[in-house]
Order: sequence, then structure tokens, then C-alpha cells
Amino acid sequence: MSAAQPVHAAVMTAVEKTVVETRTIAPLEASEVLVEVRSVGVCGSDVHWYRDGRIGSTVVSAPLILGHEASGVIVKVGEGVPRNRIGSRVALEPGVPCGRCALCRAGRYNLCPDVQFFATPPVDGAFATHVVTHSDFAHDVPDSLDDDEAALIEPLAVAMWAVGKASVTVGDRVLVSGAGPIGLLVLQVARAAGADVSVSDVAGDRLVAAMQAGATDTIDVSADELPPGFTVLIECSGVGAAISTGLAALGPAGRAVLVGMSPDGQTSVPLDVIQSREITLTGTFRYAHQYPDAIALAASGRIDLRRLVTSVHPLSDVHNALMLPGRDPSALKPMVHPQQDENPPA
Ligand SMILES: NC(=O)c1ccc[n+]([C@@H]2O[C@H](COP(=O)([O-])OP(=O)(O)OC[C@H]3O[C@@H](n4cnc5c(N)ncnc54)[C@H](O)[C@@H]3O)[C@@H](O)[C@H]2O)c1
Ligand SMILES: [Zn+2]
Ligand SMILES: [Zn+2]
Repeated sequence: MSAAQPVHAAVMTAVEKTVVETRTIAPLEASEVLVEVRSVGVCGSDVHWYRDGRIGSTVVSAPLILGHEASGVIVKVGEGVPRNRIGSRVALEPGVPCGRCALCRAGRYNLCPDVQFFATPPVDGAFATHVVTHSDFAHDVPDSLDDDEAALIEPLAVAMWAVGKASVTVGDRVLVSGAGPIGLLVLQVARAAGADVSVSDVAGDRLVAAMQAGATDTIDVSADELPPGFTVLIECSGVGAAISTGLAALGPAGRAVLVGMSPDGQTSVPLDVIQSREITLTGTFRYAHQYPDAIALAASGRIDLRRLVTSVHPLSDVHNALMLPGRDPSALKPMVHPQQDENPPA
């Protein structure tokens, strides 16, 4: 089928530089869908690519379209996709794995070495009027979720995977360290699982946001020490001190899940605590198989995704959307609406 669809995309051409370009999209493969993008959340990783030009040893070396938390509407399908998918509102799972390697076949597709993940060099992301993806990774969303909520299924999937890894259940006393978008979602999912949840941060407005999002209590670790006896730590700051003090605040047989990524990937952990208390420690890398459950949980009304949205930007304003979190600590989740420039409100 032909698909000479013109696409406007915000392309990162250099550190802190974006140009809106017009591109054309190649004909769809049989399993692919063309999605008109409605909303894209700005993630901390987008901000790192944009402001530092790298994350760890991976460098942005060629023009790159950022944005991986996206929702939209299917407007065209490949030959192998049922035509009745056209018109479906979808949340886009940004990582499409190979489906053939041992990890994919074991169901651990988030660890696939050949995964193609939006906005991770050299794969382009979703700050564009349209994107092409595999039909199986465009998940239908109900009309009760708006376009921003559908986009934010992505960080919700991160949170659900982390809470699931920690096997959080009724009676748990969970410590969430870091009240950014990820910590605030982990908090809400752990509450929905029946746990009491304390949230730590060093920023007062983030702790206020945590109380508003349902924290049992909050701890300002710039002033106070963590109380002991938590059953679970879900670390969402990536800060070394939060990892070591959070582990030390766990009781015997505690479980710890590291979600936050430390900038250099190196930090020290108190091995004596891990050994003498038989702490189970693991990390998370994105998620697998979470989208359908995340969509259902969001649609149930038990997770407030709208609370995260702090500003909305057209495609022509992607630069400011990416710079905002660094300039304004109260900016939780800038959203980009790529259709806004195309169809300005009357
Ligand atoms: N594992 C994954 O697959 C995955 C996926 C998405 C994001 N992440 C990571 O999760 C982390 C959180 O993402 P985010 O978007 O919410 O980031 P964010 O920067 O908005 O939030 C981090 C929060 O940690 C707080 N903080 C700083 N020092 C602290 C301390 N000592 N104790 C407690 N809190 C402290 C900050 O004030 C901030 O509110 C990042 O490191 C991000 O890279 C991991
Ligand atoms: Zn993200
Ligand atoms: Zn694979």
C-alpha cells in the first residue's frame, strides 16, 4: 500500500536545539499501523538526551526525534492488520522487541537486546504528527481516558512493573524515595495494592504533591532521618544516598527495587544490611506485559494521571517543553500535542 503521508516532526539537531521538519513516511509493513499522535509526555530521559546529548555511554550523534510516552489514533493499517483498527484510540508501548531471541521467547521482552525503543538513539520517537509502529504495541484505550492519560500509561507501566517486582500487598509498609512523576505513580499503584506508603524527597513541593496523591506520610530527608522498619523500598530518585539510607530503613526480610537510575550507574550499597537482614534487592528496566493492566487500572479511576500534567505545548514549542523541567522544579510532566499546530482551535 502507498503511504506518502507528510509528517511534521520536532527534530533534535544538536544539544538544546530543535527544528520542526517535514518528512515522509515509507509504505507500511504488513504488521504496522500509522498513528496520528495526539499527546506525548516529556520524560526525564528526553530531558537528558536534549540537555546533555547523552545518557551514560550512549550519545545522540545524529538528528533524533525525542518523545516516548505517546497516545494517538490509528489512521492507516498494514495488510496484515484488521481494517477495523482504523479509528482506534491507542496508547503506544514505545519498545518493540525482536520477538525471536531467547529473552523474548521467555516473555522477558523488555530485556531484548534488539528492542527498538522510541527516542533511544538511533530510533526516532513520537514528537511528530504521525508515527509508525507494530500493531501489537498500539494498545486500545477506552474513551474514559483522555489523550494525555493515554500517553501517561507509559510511566504508569514503569510503576506497575516496579510494584509487581516488589510483590507489594496488603499490610506492607512501603517507602518510595523520590516524588517525581515515577515516584508519584509508584505511590498510587502501591496504595491500590493495599499498602501504607511513605514518600521521601528533598523538595518540599514534591512532598506536597505526594500527600495530595495519597501518601500515608512524607519524610523530608534534607531535614529528617528515615524511620526504621519498612517492608519494601521502591527507590525512584537514582540518588546514591537515597539508595543506601533506604536499604538501611528496611526491616528483616525486606524487599528493595531500584527504579531510579544513578547518573554514572555506580553507587555503594550497605552489604552488611543486605546480608544480616536477608534483603532481596533487584532493579527494573522498563517493563513487560504491563500495558493492558495499566490501561485497566487507570480506567478504574484508582490512579490519577491528570494530576501529573503541568503544561501543554504545540510541536513548535518542544524546545520549551524539554527545557521546563530543568528550569522549574514544579514542572512534573509537560505534554506535547502535535496536532495543535496543524489544527489551531477556531
Ligand atoms: N527503571 C526504569 O525502567 C526507569 C524508567 C523511567 C524512569 N526511571 C528513572 O526513575 C527516576 C525517577 O524518574 P522521574 O521522572 O520521577 O525523575 P525526577 O527527577 O522528576 O524525580 C526524582 C525525585 O527524587 C528527588 N530526590 C533527590 N534526592 C533525593 C533523596 N536523597 N531522597 C529522596 N528523593 C530525592 C528529587 O527531588 C525528585 O523529586 C529517574 O532516575 C529515572 O531515570 C527508570
Ligand atoms: Zn519515560
Ligand atoms: Zn528479542
